[in-house]
Amino acid sequence: MSDPRAAVVAELTQHAAAAAVLRIQTLFANDGRRAADFSIEAAGITLDYSKQRLTRDARQCLVRLAHASGLAARIEAMFNGAPINRTEHRAVLHCALRGHAHESLSVDGVPIAASVRAARTQMETIVTALRDQTWRGFSGAAITDIVHIGIGGSYLGPALACGALADPKPGPLRVQFVANVDGSDIASKLAVLDPARTLFIVASKSFTTPETALNARTAEAWLRAAGASHAALAQHFIAITARPALAHEFGIAPANCLPLWDWVGGRYSLWSAIGLPVALAIGMGGFEALLRGAAALDHHFRTADFAHNLPVLLALVGIWNNNSLGAESLAVIPYDERLALLPSYLQQLDMESNGKRVDLDGNLVAGATAPIVWGGTGTNVQHAFFQLLHQGTHQIPVDFILSLHNPHAPLGHHDMLVANCLAQAEALMTGRKIEPSEGIAPHRACPGNQASNLLLLDELTPTTLGALLALYEHKTFVQGVIWNINSFDQWGVELGKVLAESLLSEMSSGVIGAHDGSTAAALGRYLRSRK
Ligand code: F6P
Repeated sequence: MSDPRAAVVAELTQHAAAAAVLRIQTLFANDGRRAADFSIEAAGITLDYSKQRLTRDARQCLVRLAHASGLAARIEAMFNGAPINRTEHRAVLHCALRGHAHESLSVDGVPIAASVRAARTQMETIVTALRDQTWRGFSGAAITDIVHIGIGGSYLGPALACGALADPKPGPLRVQFVANVDGSDIASKLAVLDPARTLFIVASKSFTTPETALNARTAEAWLRAAGASHAALAQHFIAITARPALAHEFGIAPANCLPLWDWVGGRYSLWSAIGLPVALAIGMGGFEALLRGAAALDHHFRTADFAHNLPVLLALVGIWNNNSLGAESLAVIPYDERLALLPSYLQQLDMESNGKRVDLDGNLVAGATAPIVWGGTGTNVQHAFFQLLHQGTHQIPVDFILSLHNPHAPLGHHDMLVANCLAQAEALMTGRKIEPSEGIAPHRACPGNQASNLLLLDELTPTTLGALLALYEHKTFVQGVIWNINSFDQWGVELGKVLAESLLSEMSSGVIGAHDGSTAAALGRYLRSRK
């Protein structure tokens, strides 16, 4: 049977050839409605993608590509709990955590709605006890500090959301994160904490991640050294995991274990109890608003036609830049210090999901898959790497993210921030011509024609943050469908973990195994330095 996508892909290639000589400014000059017609709003987020090197015809063709890729059926399969994570035989139901856990929804014949509700109730009880300060530590003192231990998806989502949403004024609880196994991470946090008033959340879906396990053991030793009895540790540890038996083995009381499920991927788990630090920092109501924002975006994604579907269009613009125009990376630039962790969060979401080289059938994919995602916050990055965007040799599309209001910004700051964001997007597009008579003209000229999206929020709130993160989740999913890859496994991370384990056991035995010369030399040098 012929591939329904082949004709569309061939047509897209023609559009790409025409786009090679297109100036974005010319598209604006020829089309007075461009700004309005290349903008879309849903769930409190407006995407303006008019500064893309994209014509109306090419856009239409991309929408046809989405249809030809079977996207509609794949969206339904995901929301209905089909095991679309084929290599792990798992359903992908993070959306069920934020408003779509219908009573009829089940995984392997087991209904999930009741367990989602029970987990939320358990989470609420914990949040109330800690925020009310009725939860006491081993000395009888109230808990004032929370240290969330987890890495990857068990860290980035809650850390991002806490940074984005926590009130600058200190609340009843201070929430901090330890992810890295680098001992300076946990040591610097513990150095200024009072063990009697500190509670640790050990967040690990698998409960086998070595970095998290070692950090948790270090936390336990710190508490014991401060006089906490073995029994009293129950007042200082909460686990969030899909493997409660392993958490109990570690010594965490069953009543303090919050569940996760195999049908929630690590990098999609913010919406589960993994979001506990967010609820502790901003209250359960704030956490529920985050879920509502995501659910509003889910509803839009599931029901809007593709030509008016925010995540679908954001994904198609990315496909256009990567596969048709050959851009290899995507810069994510929030003009918002509260979203400082967004580029890191999106790195995991996008690159761990779609950094794949084989399709669903195990065949090598023909073109590029996930772009290299990177970025930083404006305006800082203007004084760091923006030079390369303006005058370097790479084509790097940018996602600018900006809020219209920031109630926390002192007078004058927000105007300057907004002016800079808009100026950078404009400058990247228009570039600058310099008269050749000027001596250093070639050094000062900017070619322009660099594409960007502008994602505009009214204000950064739990609801709009929820919608923003759900938007990027669905964008990632749509691109995975178009590339026909599995966005929900991450087998590539295995090898490094296995090698690290065997190096660790060589360190304990002191016997260096079979390695390349470079690895053996570095290990040998390390062993000698330890002596
Ligand atoms: O190493 C990759 C990974 O498995 C991520 O997918 C995951 O988010 C992270 O490690 C942490 O895993 P866990 O929650 O099981 O500790």
